[in-house]
Amino acid sequence: MKLKQLPESTAQLTMVLIMKIIIGSDHAGYQMKEKVKAHLQKRGIEAEDVGTYSEESVDYTDPGKKVAQKVSDGVFDRGILICGTGLGMSMVANRFRGVRAGLANDLFSAIMSRRHNDSNILVIGGRLIGDTLALQLVDTWLKTPFEGGRHQRRLEKMDGV
Ligand code: RB5
Repeated sequence: MKLKQLPESTAQLTMVLIMKIIIGSDHAGYQMKEKVKAHLQKRGIEAEDVGTYSEESVDYTDPGKKVAQKVSDGVFDRGILICGTGLGMSMVANRFRGVRAGLANDLFSAIMSRRHNDSNILVIGGRLIGDTLALQLVDTWLKTPFEGGRHQRRLEKMDGV
């Protein structure tokens, strides 16, 4: 499948700026989380940080649950989670009602997780990719719209599980 040009309209950039974003990581994702946060801040986007706040070992389940709960409750529009592979964080987050956490360590997955799956949490594997790609994934994921239509029907079926 060929990717269409990404939309860069003022409306879309405004959408990103008004989104409420929450971010979390375990120790394996800590350094990358700090870089993502700083990157968002530079763009005028303040992300609520639920930790972890150092490289001391923590269970990925704890920040994962905090972020997923707040997205599930509608307190935040979008969440970003970073652990070593992204696997544990995705497993945790996807247990929460209404959460669609997309594990994306490449641009195609990040784009498609928005277009087709309306992902509301982006999960990244901090030990798998570099910071430059991670920031690209975040930017792209934030501005890519959901296509709706047949994909909406599929999401509704998912919610019925
Ligand atoms: C931590 O060592 C690691 O297990 C965690 O970051 C994550 O990759 C789990 O899925």
